Amino acid sequence: MTAVEGITSFDPPRRVLMGPGPSDVHQRVLDAMARPTIGHLDPEFVRMMDELKELLRYAFQTENRVTFPVSGPGSVGMETCFVNLVEPGDKVLVCRNGAFGGRQLENVERTGGVPVVVDDDWGTPISLDRVEWAFDAHPDIRVVSFVHAETSTGVGSNAEAIATIAHAHGALVIADTVTSLGGIPVMVDEWGLDAVYSGSQKCLSCTPGLSPVTFGEAALDKVKARKTKCQSWFMDLNLVLPYWEGGARTYHHTAPINPLYGLHEALLMLTEEGLEAAWRRHAELHDILVEGLEGLGLSMYVEAPYRLPQLNLVSVPEGVDDAWVRAEALRRYDLELGNGLGVLAGKVWRIGLMGTSCTQANVDLCLDALGTLVSEAAAK
Ligand SMILES: Cc1ncc(COP(=O)(O)O)c(C=O)c1O
Repeated sequence: MTAVEGITSFDPPRRVLMGPGPSDVHQRVLDAMARPTIGHLDPEFVRMMDELKELLRYAFQTENRVTFPVSGPGSVGMETCFVNLVEPGDKVLVCRNGAFGGRQLENVERTGGVPVVVDDDWGTPISLDRVEWAFDAHPDIRVVSFVHAETSTGVGSNAEAIATIAHAHGALVIADTVTSLGGIPVMVDEWGLDAVYSGSQKCLSCTPGLSPVTFGEAALDKVKARKTKCQSWFMDLNLVLPYWEGGARTYHHTAPINPLYGLHEALLMLTEEGLEAAWRRHAELHDILVEGLEGLGLSMYVEAPYRLPQLNLVSVPEGVDDAWVRAEALRRYDLELGNGLGVLAGKVWRIGLMGTSCTQANVDLCLDALGTLVSEAAAK
């Protein structure tokens, strides 16, 4: 037998995470995750699960009974929404204004749905006119999907208005709130969002790997009325819900116990701060960051009204090597900045101000690092 040699415990460096996620995880959350593992059907664990659902209802601002964290990253929450709500042959309008809208399209195709796509330029919000026009051309659209906060572009779209149009035409909405939840308002009930997925690692500042979801009654009615079996065994709501609700919980899969402790703690911290205070903190520090970046002579990629406070796209100045700046930020400042995705690769930096990472000290560090590195890079 070959032995494994030279490997010791992994001791990661301490970084400041100011990319597109994950964000910094507070020590309280890390400590919560280090508590003793108990059984996934232990009555104490079930009690914690019930609290977790309550805390998520607060974060999503919903009374939806079916609100829970899917065991898997945001992508699994996304698939959970699509595989349950889209049956083969269903016409689905996908509003695409960035990379993550493209993933929604992939989901529609793979579930056998018939996609109708409205494309908006990267860096601009979803056009409500185009959504209306899509219904004019395709009155049989059953579901509309969109990304509330496009992480690839740093743009926020008007979720409430999209939902209003969809409902006026009898369609349900699937909303991606992976980057929005906890950073800007996500008002599931007030806006009438039918199926919503998010992620643990952005403005909630838990570790990656959990995807909070919430489903309203109209969405659950569609799931109940399905003529075909959900394509996924793991994500079939009918199978997973008996683990998350009801008096006698039944085994579905072994829940990620310690990460769920972490999410419980992260959400508890959000309730302690208060949602409105958290949104305000993101907005205020965004303003300070933008002022500082502009003071360095850098320019924001997205027009002011559409900018996400929690994800800031900055244009890489002409002649500056994007990758060198990010590598040096990591090496010299332990600071992670995000690269541009897809058509924006090499053209922008993505600066996250998410959850625990959204602090004055981090804004100062980022401005200090970029001030030094951009002028060095320009002089090269
Ligand atoms: C808007 C959006 N949707 C979905 C995802 C996928 O989440 P995950 O990487 O946790 O699977 C991400 C991740 O960055 C995202 O930003």
